[in-house]
Amino acid sequence: MGRLAYVNGRYVPHGHAMVHIEDRGYQFADGVYEVVPVVDGVLIDEEQHLDRLGYSLAELRIDWPVRRAALKLILRELMARNGLRRGIIYFQVTRGVAPRDHKFPCAAKSALVITTKRLSPPSAAMIQDGVAVSTQPDIRWARRDIKSISLLPNILAKQAAVEAKAFEAWLVKADGIVTEGSSTNAWIVTKAGEVVTHARNHDILGGVTRQALLELVTSAGIKLVERSFTVTEAFAASEAFLTSSSAFIVPVTRIDGKAVGNGKPGPITQKLREIYVEGVDRQIRAAS
Ligand code: PDD
Repeated sequence: MGRLAYVNGRYVPHGHAMVHIEDRGYQFADGVYEVVPVVDGVLIDEEQHLDRLGYSLAELRIDWPVRRAALKLILRELMARNGLRRGIIYFQVTRGVAPRDHKFPCAAKSALVITTKRLSPPSAAMIQDGVAVSTQPDIRWARRDIKSISLLPNILAKQAAVEAKAFEAWLVKADGIVTEGSSTNAWIVTKAGEVVTHARNHDILGGVTRQALLELVTSAGIKLVERSFTVTEAFAASEAFLTSSSAFIVPVTRIDGKAVGNGKPGPITQKLREIYVEGVDRQIRAAS
C-alpha cells in the first residue's frame, strides 16, 4: 500500500489527497502549519510544536480542527500507517472552506491536512564541510512569529539562494540585521566565543530547534546571547550555523561566497550539534 495522507477525518492515498478549491488556505494562504521531526519513530519536541501550533492558531483566531489529544493520536496513526521511522510529519490547519470573501467566514470549520515524508539526516558531507548561505532582503510581513502557510517571500529568497549556489538564504532587513533563514534560524559564534541568535520577537519564527538548543546550551555552560546581529558581524564571525526541525544543526561555512572563520565547521558548532543530538537520543530512550 502506498503512502497515505490525512485530510479532514479521512486517510486517503497521498497521490489522490485533495482539498476543496475554496479552502481558504488555497485561496488566501489563510492558515498555519507545523513540521515535526521523527527519529526512530519518535516525534521530537512534539509538545513544543503543538504549543506553537496553538499560538499560531490563537493569533489568527482559527479554531483547533480537533482537540490536541486527538491530533496526537492522528499523528501517530498516520505515522504507523505510513511506517514512518525517520523523517518529518507536516500538518496544516486552514480557516476552512467558504465562498471567497476576505473577511472571516461565519460558519467555516477549520480544515486539517497531515502528510509524512521520509527524510534522511543531513548528509555527512554537509556536517563535515558545512553549507553556503546567500543573503537576501527580508521582504516578509511584520508577524513572522506566526507559522503561517503564506511563504512566498521565503520561497523567493530560497530560490535566489539556490541560484546563487547556496543551501539557504539568510534574510536581511533594511538596517542590515539578519533575522533568520528562509526556513531555518540563523546563528553566529563571535570571535569572543559568544553564541548569538536573533531575539525571539515578531521578526522571527520562534524555532523549536532554536529554543531546545538555547536551553541545552545554557546548561552546557556555553555563553549565549539572544540579540540581533548584522551581516557585517556575520562576515566577521568565527563560526556560523543554522537550525531547523528537518536539518537540526548544520554548520554554515560560507556567507555570500566568503569563508566564515577558517572556512570549516567550528568546534563550538560541532559541540552544540553533539549536545543537540544527545538531547534527541534522550527523548527517543524516554519514549521507548
Ligand atoms: N521551517 N524560521 C523559519 C522561517 C522556518 O520556516 C523554520 C522552520 C524555522 C525553524 O523552526 P523549527 O526549529 O521549529 O523547525 C525558522 C520548517 C522546517 C519548514 O518550513 O519546513
